[in-house]
Amino acid sequence: MEKRSELYRGKAKTVFTTDDPELLILQFRNDTSAFDGERIDQLDRKGMVNNKFNHFIMGKLEEAGIATQLEALLADDEALVKKLEMIPVECVVRNRAAGSIVRRLGVEEGLVLNPPTFEFFLKNDALHDPMVNDFHIISFGWATQAQINEMKVLTFKVNNVLSALFDAAGLILVDYKLEFGVDANGNIVLGDEFTPDGCRLWDKATNQKMDKDRFRQGLGGVVEAYEEVASRLGVQLA
Ligand code: TMP
Repeated sequence: MEKRSELYRGKAKTVFTTDDPELLILQFRNDTSAFDGERIDQLDRKGMVNNKFNHFIMGKLEEAGIATQLEALLADDEALVKKLEMIPVECVVRNRAAGSIVRRLGVEEGLVLNPPTFEFFLKNDALHDPMVNDFHIISFGWATQAQINEMKVLTFKVNNVLSALFDAAGLILVDYKLEFGVDANGNIVLGDEFTPDGCRLWDKATNQKMDKDRFRQGLGGVVEAYEEVASRLGVQLA
């Protein structure tokens, strides 16, 4: 597999083309961003930890029958992925209230949401990722009703698989964000990443935050917390 040119540089990952038009390389950088890119720091080892974490989680989701973009781990900070036409919305499931929903709805952090709730956000840093609904997505042509339905089903299926996985590791999956794309055959496939950068994980015993909120809130020990989660799950980092 030959790495060719840079296709896209996101806040934490860079996408490269390869000699195969159907395959791309995702490079996980140490850059860690918060508040829609307003704050970006370099955190040692984070690219490697997130790449291996993502590979582990995507493997578990594939085992559960969820199609993902991931093909193979290529290097400490690189993964080979299928090329997708990404749908520009973020799918968020919340098992408990935290983050923006606490601010928007004035509810208490930690409130259990039964059933878990679902929100769409438009992927647009300049607009601060505004919340959008199904009608917006269809009217602006970002996805069809059928694709919306499938993204919801898949996002909740991920919740079942990963809530159990994290629970067994002594962690609460508070919320998470997924992004989907369409593959060459027109199928909806889970893309982007699942790492502690894009979810909230609390220790079951102490409620300690083990995710990117440590960075957002200046709590320190960010990558150390990610490594602790990885170690509890049995992710091989070395
Ligand atoms: P929020 O509470 O800020 O709306 O975020 C909900 C979850 O989605 C949280 O785990 C962080 C994740 N998320 C991202 O990873 N990137 C984003 O751009 C947004 C809006 C949320």
